Amino acid sequence: MERIYFTTPIYYVNAEPHLGHTYTTVVADTLTRYYRSLGYEAFFLTGTDEHGDKIVQAAEAGGVDPKSYVDRVSGLFRSTWDRCGIAYDYFIRTTDPHHQEFVGRILQKIYDNGDVYFGEYGGHYCYGCERFYTEKELVDGKCPDHQKAPDYISEKNYFFRMSKYQDRLIETIHSRPDFIRPDRYRAEVLAFLREPLEDLCISRPKSRLQWGIPLPFDANYVTYVWFDALLNYVSALDRRGGNSLQIFWPKANHLIAKDILKTHAIYWPTMLMAAGLPLFDHLNVHGYWVMDSGKMSKSLGNVIRPLEMKERFGMDAFRYFLLREMAFGQDAKFSEEALVTRINADLANNLGNLVSRVLAMQQKYFAGIVQSLSADWAAEDNELRDKFARAEEELKSFMAELQFHRALEALWSALDHANRYIVQTAPFTMVKDPAKLSRVGAILHHLLEVVRTLSRLLAPFMPDTANELRTLLDVNESALQAPWGQGFAAGHKIKAPKVLFPRIETDAKK
Ligand code: MSP
Repeated sequence: MERIYFTTPIYYVNAEPHLGHTYTTVVADTLTRYYRSLGYEAFFLTGTDEHGDKIVQAAEAGGVDPKSYVDRVSGLFRSTWDRCGIAYDYFIRTTDPHHQEFVGRILQKIYDNGDVYFGEYGGHYCYGCERFYTEKELVDGKCPDHQKAPDYISEKNYFFRMSKYQDRLIETIHSRPDFIRPDRYRAEVLAFLREPLEDLCISRPKSRLQWGIPLPFDANYVTYVWFDALLNYVSALDRRGGNSLQIFWPKANHLIAKDILKTHAIYWPTMLMAAGLPLFDHLNVHGYWVMDSGKMSKSLGNVIRPLEMKERFGMDAFRYFLLREMAFGQDAKFSEEALVTRINADLANNLGNLVSRVLAMQQKYFAGIVQSLSADWAAEDNELRDKFARAEEELKSFMAELQFHRALEALWSALDHANRYIVQTAPFTMVKDPAKLSRVGAILHHLLEVVRTLSRLLAPFMPDTANELRTLLDVNESALQAPWGQGFAAGHKIKAPKVLFPRIETDAKK
């Protein structure tokens, strides 16, 4: 059986779940569901990153001890994903005893191999990023991410010989063109690797930071948070036991945004090389969601919360928007206006209307009983079926390229075709002529095949809607998979229509 493994970044618990976290998590959820629908055994990991200065500072600001603080916010991430219907298989926390023990094991291994040394280091340290910056990386003397001048820190620490693995990493990226994708991020990493790689400081003295995993070979130090965090992707499989590590790890697909490209494309593979572990399969990098008003931030009061979106618009509508609006790899703009426009046009009108029209006609003309198809289909019936078959093929190739927006576009183009089929065949007019009743039955049967196909193909993107469609058609899983024209047994009765996506009235239109 083919296998695949998807991961999201483990999110810092110094912020509560927002749009950015939700996007990556929805993408991982969609991919997991999609690969399962193709028959793969898929494993989906998410979780929280709970060590380091940032977290201690957030706990202090909240007036609580780090442990109670991380328990609360990690719980919030987990319950948010649960309430959003995110079907992760395991939720890892870096404060889990197994993870801490695993990190210790890997550190000891690379220490024993001679890839760790003790040395003095002075550098520009950004507390926001939790890393040292080289002079060159600073913009006007400031951290480009946090717009703050870093602190100069000099101390004795442990270093990982990352530089030793630079050539092997470059070779890997050259020989595996889709190791880091899309291409622009691969190019960015290769450009960065043109300069000599420095070794990585992997410890923090306990005198400065206690909240971390102690180094197994020196109790006066804790592990640098990124060294601890990146290992979650492997430690989760190790904890699961059995042969999970062997079967899933080489099929690992990491999903991240561009903000953490360097840690994932440089630190992580070199760490794996030093630990004697195979490399992940793909690092998949997406762009940033930006607000009309610029960056999303608490201080600007423009943070988008997933549960609020779910409450107001429905989770599937929100998922559809996220996947349809962003071209994976590029930045995208978020605005409520764009969300409402998409919901009204694509969901309420295009999808919702089609389904309710078809189901309503089926009720009205045939009391919900699916009519049989004649042996010879009209040319437009074949065209309709072929259009959906082509859309499915396109969807497959776009999914392989992580082009979710184009996969959905392909599906919606078939939906447009189905809506035109209704207008052109005009069953609502034909029904007035009793001699044409059997043709009306056949047209509606083909349209029910459209709804059945949609239920199957939409499932990874909009799982609740897909289920709803299946319930309305009253078909089971195996009937869902049947070829076109064979999904409904003779005399099968479908349910009465309902409004799937109510139109959202905006103030402007009221
Ligand atoms: N804890 C680290 C990751 C360690 S993984 C071994 C971290 N956490 S984070 O909470 O800051 O999450 C960063 C990730 O959240 C991004 O890589 C992306 O997946 C998601 N996003 C956060 N804001 C985002 C946007 N505005 N737009 C898109 N995704 C963004 O970094």
